Amino acid sequence: MTEQVIVKDEGAIRTIRMNRPDKKNALTATMYGAMAEAIESAGGSSPIRCILIMGVPGAFSAGNDLGDFMKAAMGGEGLGNSVLRFLYALACCERPLVAAVQGVAVGIGTTMVLHCDYAVAASDARFSTPFVALGLVPEAASSLLAPRLMGHRRAFELLVMGKPFSGEEAKTLGLVNQVVAGSEVEAEAMKAAQAIAALPPEGVAISRRLMKGEPTEVVARIDAEAVQFKQRLGSPEARQAFEAFLSRKR
Ligand code: COA
Repeated sequence: MTEQVIVKDEGAIRTIRMNRPDKKNALTATMYGAMAEAIESAGGSSPIRCILIMGVPGAFSAGNDLGDFMKAAMGGEGLGNSVLRFLYALACCERPLVAAVQGVAVGIGTTMVLHCDYAVAASDARFSTPFVALGLVPEAASSLLAPRLMGHRRAFELLVMGKPFSGEEAKTLGLVNQVVAGSEVEAEAMKAAQAIAALPPEGVAISRRLMKGEPTEVVARIDAEAVQFKQRLGSPEARQAFEAFLSRKR
């Protein structure tokens, strides 16, 4: 079976590729676990200086696997341990994170970019966070990070009203640094990662921590959202939304 998360070290850069193209990179517990492991193990004394997160043509990620959400809803569970481990890994990551976003970036596909230090979007990138339409609430500390980045009203439009937005709009909102053709997105993101990796690492680490602050507040928000998320997963609104997606006729 092809690996659904491919982790490679190229010199001082670790690439993490979400690779489940048949499901538009919808993320399963196993994928979250592999991504968390790849981020955590790049910290400490690891020689990795920058982490680049990528998807496949047409899909950065379609968000959490909705079949898994349905199972969690039926079992009375919340966000699983692997999801939370991945969210904490993002929040506590010791190395700069770069994203190369092409195609759909739904739910966590968008909110993980809020944790990145640099992001490149393809001109076909389509961001969206339809949490509320799915009967859910924002996750990954997006309820903290998005309003901080773009102001309450614009964050409300995205996180609550679920308005999809393009790569260009993402740039205007400050979510991404660059918008390029789809064929160039990974090369441009790699260039940025190489530029970061070439800087003095201690200076990068200290500057980044000064800019981001201690992760305590972000971790606390991940936990607070997770409490609400668990309740919402069990709500009739959410179950109906998952059922509608999983049984849609095309
Ligand atoms: N969970 C599970 N499966 C998903 C998925 C998800 N989040 N997103 C896509 N898939 C699956 C589809 O069911 C389909 O599988 P199938 O071929 O076995 O039927 C396959 O991936 C391709 O998706 P499709 O919908 O045909 O692609 P599209 O290009 O027409 O649309 C999306 C792409 C992402 C817009 C659409 O799939 C979608 O809305 N997905 C749900 C996104 C979502 O709500 N995520 C949760 C956010 S919290």
